Amino acid sequence: MSRCEDYLEVGVQYGFTLASVDVKNKTGVDPNLMFNPKLAPGVKLHRTTSDGFFSELPQEIQYDLIFGRAPYFEQTARDFLNALKHLRPGASL
Ligand SMILES: C[S@@+](CC[C@H](N)C(=O)[O-])C[C@H]1O[C@@H](n2cnc3c(N)ncnc32)[C@H](O)[C@@H]1O
Repeated sequence: MSRCEDYLEVGVQYGFTLASVDVKNKTGVDPNLMFNPKLAPGVKLHRTTSDGFFSELPQEIQYDLIFGRAPYFEQTARDFLNALKHLRPGASL
């Protein structure tokens, strides 16, 4: 994989994985964040659902790595299809 600079995590909960990922730019999405966003300086956090996030995400925004685990199949399928539109060439999903 080429250099990873932009990471998106769908469903961050307590932010454990988000905090452990060593990537320059990190974005987290969760309608039910379980930690204080002020404790994650430099990280962009969106308190919304993945559907809401992707519906407003400008087309040109791309990520090198997208991680998420939706609670049920239909949501996972939607997240997967939405994520495909925002993967930089050579990215991982
Ligand atoms: C298993 S936890 C995530 C754990 C986290 N990725 C980690 O590795 O520490 C699942 C999270 O997904 C969030 N979630 C559920 N449905 C969601 C959706 N449609 N969009 C974004 N986040 C969602 C929940 O609020 C919950 O915090």
